[in-house]
Amino acid sequence: MGNKIYKIGIIKGDGIGPEIIEEAVKVLDAVSTKMNFEVNYEEFLLGGIAIDETGVPLPDETIKGVQKCDAVLFGAIGGPKWDNLERHLRPETGLLGLRKAMGTYANLRPAMVYDELINASTLKPSVIQGVDLMVVRELTGGIYFGEPRENLEDKAYNTMIYTREEVVRIAKVAFDIAMKRDKRVCSVDKANVLEVSQFWRDIVEDVAKDYPEVELTHMYVDNAAMQLIREPKQFDVILTGNIFGDILSDAASMLSGSIGLLPSASTGNKVGLFEPIHGSAPDIAGQGIANPLATISSVSMMLKYALGEDEASQRIDDAIHKVLSEGYRTGDISAYDAKEVCATSEIGSLIADYVSR
Ligand code: IPM
Ligand code: MN
Repeated sequence: MGNKIYKIGIIKGDGIGPEIIEEAVKVLDAVSTKMNFEVNYEEFLLGGIAIDETGVPLPDETIKGVQKCDAVLFGAIGGPKWDNLERHLRPETGLLGLRKAMGTYANLRPAMVYDELINASTLKPSVIQGVDLMVVRELTGGIYFGEPRENLEDKAYNTMIYTREEVVRIAKVAFDIAMKRDKRVCSVDKANVLEVSQFWRDIVEDVAKDYPEVELTHMYVDNAAMQLIREPKQFDVILTGNIFGDILSDAASMLSGSIGLLPSASTGNKVGLFEPIHGSAPDIAGQGIANPLATISSVSMMLKYALGEDEASQRIDDAIHKVLSEGYRTGDISAYDAKEVCATSEIGSLIADYVSR
């Protein structure tokens, strides 16, 4: 029998997107050779570059093309060049449209602390050592997508809507993940103020009945933001809606020391979308100094969650640890125990080398 062949959609996007994707592809090529599977790539446009080349942030070819892939790897979008466009033409609108079109309603954002980088966080080592949590963020509903929405002369509004079906399916994802972890789910909402949050909470309680082994707690989002910084080790799985998950996952990323470290997986439908949680960092784009680890780590999540190549995924995780333990760092984490400050491409090459051994 011949090798397995996977078709991977590649979306470089804007800013540092192309640089970090290049390193991620380097690592994926290396690990596929080592593990005897093949990867074919097809590139698609999204975001600012898509606006420049086609006039819209999410071309039809991208929507159609990604459906034919086994998984999609995405860099980042956006930048000052496109900030003043009308909302429907903004790069961000393209990304939101892609998530919706792909039906990737479950966004998994792990936050862990690499022991090698224990001093890189702005928080005390005793607070963060051993942190290993997973934010399960609902990604295709809530206030990001609610109608009506309007920006008028004297008022503006958005609407936070969740349907029963949307809450049930994301809650199940969180409980299923908890079953494979420490069996604890903390659902984060604002039920003391918002009807939609009370609705969310009641439904999560219902879903929990099917998971008697999992301990469910609830927390208001303001308190959750505080608890994440105060005592992050109390969390296993954090289940939350779209906007709260956006905010809390940025906060959680700083436990690890840099937003340049953490990956994400957006799943739910046939084809998953894998991307770093950080943005396009236009201020450092093109300088070759961006941290590629979040994107390389996203490749690891893709191998595990979308392709079932667990061993390849583990190889990447091990290689990241090795590179960090040897003291190779990009600038964002270089103030701490760095032996050598490396360029984006050097880190990628080191990891590609380690996964091949
Ligand atoms: C993220 C980003 C996006 C979001 C933006 C770019 C639309 O911040 O993936 O967290 O808010 O979801
Ligand atoms: Mn965000």
